[in-house]
Amino acid sequence: MSKPMKSFKTKIFLDSGDPLETSKTKNLLGFLDGQTTNPTLFAKSPEVVKMVNQGKKFTAGEIYDFYKKIVKDISGQIPNGSVSIEVYADNKTTVEEIIRDCRNFSKWIPNAHIKLPITKEGLKAANLAVKEGIRVNMTLCFSQEQAAAVYNATKGAKKGQVYISPFIGRLDDIGENGLDLILNILKMYKQGDGHVEVLAASIRSLDHFLSCLEMECDIITAPYSVLEAWVKEGFSVNKPKEALAKLKKIIYNSAPLLKEKWNSTYFRHPLTDKGIERFCSDWKGLLS
Ligand code: E4P
Repeated sequence: MSKPMKSFKTKIFLDSGDPLETSKTKNLLGFLDGQTTNPTLFAKSPEVVKMVNQGKKFTAGEIYDFYKKIVKDISGQIPNGSVSIEVYADNKTTVEEIIRDCRNFSKWIPNAHIKLPITKEGLKAANLAVKEGIRVNMTLCFSQEQAAAVYNATKGAKKGQVYISPFIGRLDDIGENGLDLILNILKMYKQGDGHVEVLAASIRSLDHFLSCLEMECDIITAPYSVLEAWVKEGFSVNKPKEALAKLKKIIYNSAPLLKEKWNSTYFRHPLTDKGIERFCSDWKGLLS
């Protein structure tokens, strides 16, 4: 697969639980560096929707088998890319349960990044997982403090082993400029050793996408519709026009990255809790 004419540093991922979109995107772009899934996207995958519409309810075992089938299909289409698989983790899930899923999901495919929420348990599990060589994608990031905690919890990991997913659109939804968070985390990580890559998530528009390209974010994951809009713009890397929406600026926190402990609680964010609730409810909605 060849890259588009213009060169850019950022890796481009598809945000989707549908393997058919993987092939469509490869055709559309001529390349694809990875794909991110989550419980909501899995529940929306056409194969799953079809079964649900036929009245199917899954047992816990069946649902994991189905998730595995979908993830294997995606992985086979982008063997040199990365495929994110999200663990089920509600507020009662223990570190032991999370790490068990990390080990299990990592065996599904050779190119997995396991998505863990940025919670106390998620960070503890990430700390253990990276020591075992497991690749992680720390998700539901809404603050620079959470990004500092991820950095510190995964110190010693190899380059490419740790991604962090700040959610732009969901911050915009509450009136805060999600793009500022990406900028702030990239700036903060410049003080570090580069072991965590920033994966811009919750991309809702071409403006989000182009702004992240302009910031030279490590990775962007975007829905098919946004990638299609990008192709219509001729794979533009031009800075987008100023967004019209009035969003509150997120101020850079100059608290030193390297001094922050990761196992305190200062990194909690209400949108992380809300995001966990939504993912868990979409997942449980499929169960009998
Ligand atoms: C990807 O890793 C994220 O789960 C996804 O981008 C979230 O997007 P949303 O906020 O539009 O649900």
